[in-house]
Formats: sequence, structure tokens, C-alpha cells
Amino acid sequence: MWGTSTAAYQIEGAVAEDGRTPSIWDTFSHHSGRVLNGDTGDIACDHYHRYAEDLDLLADLGVSAYRFSIAWPRIHPDVTGPANEKGLDFYKRLIAGLHERNIIPLPTMYHWDLPQSLEDVGGWTNRDTAYRFADYAATVLERLDGISKWTTFNEPWTSAWLGYAYGHHAPGREDIGAGASATHHLLLAHGLGVQAARKIVPEVEIGLTLNLGVLRSGTQEQVDIDATWRADGNQNRIWLDPLFKGTYPEDMVELYSAFPPGFSVVQPGDLEIISSPIDFLGVNFYGPGTVMGEGREQEARMAGFNVGPRPEAPPVNSLRTIGVETPGRPKTAMDWEIDATALRELLVRIDQEYTKIPLYITENGAAFDDYVGTDGVVRDPDRIRYLTEHLEACRGAIDDGVNLKGYFIWSLLDNFEWGFGYSRRFGIVWIDYDTGRRIPKSSFRWYQGVTATNELPNLDEAMAATRHKG
Ligand code: FCB
Repeated sequence: MWGTSTAAYQIEGAVAEDGRTPSIWDTFSHHSGRVLNGDTGDIACDHYHRYAEDLDLLADLGVSAYRFSIAWPRIHPDVTGPANEKGLDFYKRLIAGLHERNIIPLPTMYHWDLPQSLEDVGGWTNRDTAYRFADYAATVLERLDGISKWTTFNEPWTSAWLGYAYGHHAPGREDIGAGASATHHLLLAHGLGVQAARKIVPEVEIGLTLNLGVLRSGTQEQVDIDATWRADGNQNRIWLDPLFKGTYPEDMVELYSAFPPGFSVVQPGDLEIISSPIDFLGVNFYGPGTVMGEGREQEARMAGFNVGPRPEAPPVNSLRTIGVETPGRPKTAMDWEIDATALRELLVRIDQEYTKIPLYITENGAAFDDYVGTDGVVRDPDRIRYLTEHLEACRGAIDDGVNLKGYFIWSLLDNFEWGFGYSRRFGIVWIDYDTGRRIPKSSFRWYQGVTATNELPNLDEAMAATRHKG
């Protein structure tokens, strides 16, 4: 299955239209001062109005599937009030438009846009939010037809840790204990969503998407190996263990017991709900990380690494780690290191340690400093190289026996990249934010070849094809 991904707040705009109420991202982008250049999602790609044009782009691209998310504040603007018909209608039009073009719709119920009114009563640190999510899930499951695969959550790690513990994302809280309790409530909400789906649409598949990491220890010394294992606990095991084994990793429960409420919010029966069997797992992957123990900057430099101020370093480093970089390794405009071998490694680990259910790469891609050439063409050879290397890694994982069924590029369109606003472009389609005009980039043409032939074009030839002829 070939596809592309987007998310509601990042592309839709129309934030006050047809009954939608504010989400935590509206509040955060307007008031926190923490989004670059003061950008907001008010207009974004104006996809709410231009969706038909975007559907035509998908058809032209030749993808078999499209992953998007549904904005909770469009569906239940008053949370406990009735469903908003106008909000549902938008997604009905979108889904119908996909079917007309023979494209499978892959909706995600939650891609970070929590209704602000729920945040006002604690957001994901409040257990009740999980039950409100279950109500919302029931509405979309009942009211949106033509879906064969539902996804509950996108990257609950990011919601819990960037949103509640480190403050880089909405709602901008900086409280480690809140990060842990949000983790549990997000997982509980996922489990309740799975149970709702089994009841309401038993014939439909349901899964979730995680951003799992490949974390490598900077040295073979025990202190760095231990630090890497803690980082792994936070990013990988804290999600995979409850979902597939029905338990939280003991080391993590103990670590977060020093940060109340931590995992003391877990109630009897919760883990059974969370480990309700799912039909597929979505994996978002961008790049690996290298980890060492806290205070080991000097040893890191001696081992040949770069140690810089890490923009994502939490205010309280409960994991007692530092992130280091391998000099000379290529990076994206996000400053993320590129190493596709990590993707194969990750997929094999999931397969060997956790599950054999079908896996989908629900996001993979890169931001680069794209620009429109004087001839109107957007050439993005770096993106083509990145995507080629990662698809080769996927092929390698399949050769290793991994049950990998699909691949989705992040993203169809340049869009609102959260705390980075519009300054980072991930799209295979350029957006002119002043006019809303869409310009397919070279990578779009390249991906057309992939979807049409099911083969990877020769990299050198693909890169050469992007060169300016004038
Ligand atoms: C992922 C998000 C997605 C996008 C990419 C770059 O963490 O799920 O919305 O921002 O990163």
C-alpha cells in the first residue's frame, strides 16, 4: 500500500468554521509565544476549502491510500453535546472523494488537537478525558462509513511528553509526572477506542501509530548503555509493553514514581483494556538517536561525538541522559540525523520482540530548504535520496521476514510543522502560503514512478532528472 500522510490541524485551516471550537493547538499557537514566527494553523493549507484539489493531487500521484486525521473539535465542539453534523459532513465529503478516486481512506482519530475545553479540566492528565475520547470515537465509528482501517492515536509519546512534560507542544506543560499520567490516559483512551470499534464496526480493522526510536549507546560503557536503556524505556517500551504484553516496564514505573502522580494513576483492569488486540501497528520514523549518560559531555567529545545544546532537552531530565551526534552524518532541515539502516533495525526489533501483526510505515520523510526555481520548478533531490534510502531499508526488513504492508510519505503538502510553524517544509507538494497555490515538487514526480511500477527508480538517474537544464 503506497500513500501519503497529513494531519487536520497542520493543513485544514478554517478553525472557526462550521461550528469548530478551539483545540489546544489554537490556544498554544496564539498565546504561548512558543511557535516560531508566531505562526498558527488558522489558514494553514486551506485544505478545508481546497480538499477537492488535494484529492486530485492524490489521484495524480497514483497512491492507493491516504492517511489523514479527524479534528475532534469539529465533531464534538461542546465535548458532551451532540455531534456536529457540519463537521461530520466535511469528512464524509473527503471520504467520498477518496472512494471516487479509488484511494483507501485511513483516518486517525487523534492527531494532537484536543478540544480546549477538555484541557481546561486537566486534559490528558485527567482520566475522564479517556472516556470522552471513547464517546468521540463512537461517534466517528458510527457516523463515518466506508472505512476499512481506523487508527486511534498518532504518536501518543509526542502528546504526553512534548505536550505535558517538556512543554514544546500544546498544551505546553512542563511537568514530568503529568507526562507519565498522560501516557497512561492516552493508552487507556486507545484501548477504549479499540473496544468501541469492536462493538460498533466489528468487521473493520483498528490499530494505532507510534513514533518508535532506534537509540544507540555512544560507547560500550555501562553508564551509557544504562542511559540508552532508560531512553528506550520512555520512547519504546512504555508503549509497546502495555500494548503487546499487558504490563508497564518495571524500571519506568519505578523511575516515574519520583514524579507524582506518575503511574500511580493506573487502576485495576486498565492494562487489560490497553492490551486489547489490534489488527495493525503504524510506525512513524524519521531518524535514530545516540545517547549517553548525564554529565558525560567530555567523554562524548573524546569518543568523537558532537555535543550541542539539544533543542528537545527537557527542563528536568528525568531520564538522566544526553543526546550526542555523529559528526559528518547528513541531517535534514530539522537537524535530524539521517541513517536509514536504523529503520530496518527498528522493524526487525518490533517483529522479533513484540508482534507479527501487519506493520505500516505511517510517516517517513524529511524537511529540506526547498525553494521555487526561477523556472517555477521545486527540485528536491535530497528528499528523493532520503526516501529512496528508507524504502531500501523497508525492502531489507521485508527480506528479513517483517510483515510490512504499506508506506506513507510525510507529507503530501508542506504544512504547519507544530512548534516550527511554516518554516519547515516536509511536503512533496510545495505550498505558496500567500496564495494557497500547490506546486508538485520533483519528489512528487519521483513517487509517481514508485506507485506506478512498484519499483524504486535508480537513484542516480532520479537525482540527475532533478538537475536544472537551463
Ligand atoms: C511527526 C508528526 C507529524 C509531523 C512529523 C514531521 O511527529 O506526527 O505531524 O509533524 O512529525
